[in-house]
Amino acid sequence: MFLFFVLPLCITVAFTNPSCTPGFYLSGTQCRKCQIGSYCPDGQTQLTCPPGSYTDLYEQSQCRLCRPGWYQFKSGSTVCLRCGLGCSCANSTQLPEQCDVGTYADLYGQTQCRQCRKGYYNVKKGATYCTKCPLGHECANSKVAPIPCPIGFYNALYEQTKCRPCIKGSTTQTVGQTACINVVG
Ligand SMILES: *[C@@H]1O[C@H](CO)[C@@H](O)[C@H](O)[C@H]1NC(C)=O
Repeated sequence: MFLFFVLPLCITVAFTNPSCTPGFYLSGTQCRKCQIGSYCPDGQTQLTCPPGSYTDLYEQSQCRLCRPGWYQFKSGSTVCLRCGLGCSCANSTQLPEQCDVGTYADLYGQTQCRQCRKGYYNVKKGATYCTKCPLGHECANSKVAPIPCPIGFYNALYEQTKCRPCIKGSTTQTVGQTACINVVG
């Protein structure tokens, strides 16, 4: 008698509040396994993974976040994508951004671009490297093209941020020189 009383009660409770284990969702009265690209947190509903996350396995109750330097801008994804060369991925829910002028990314999967080293420059977006400041020039600002040394100045070295003045009694006759010449007279 006792069992007869409890058993129908249990069935009634299960019927009015139907639920599957997390990782599954309810389809009518059936429990179905959660699909890849989705998650099933409460055993009832199946939801798509939001941007910046994914599931590559069935029966998941939560999505995995993209690793730093990886991204996914679509929802319902099974993969994250690695940030490309010349780009940064600070926000894993968005498309990669090209490195700004004066910066570069020479490695995949970067969350930010690197500044050009002192004496180097880069005037294009999306760069994978910066260029050494040439002889006879100065590169004080890594975001602009090298500036030729003005008359009366020179640079005998690469990677310089400043041209050097010619010593007294010498000068240059045109801009962009690597040496000064003696003034005759
Ligand atoms: C990432 O981008 C999304 C969409 O534009 C935005 O809602 C979110 O606040 C951003 N997150 C960060 C950490 O900037």
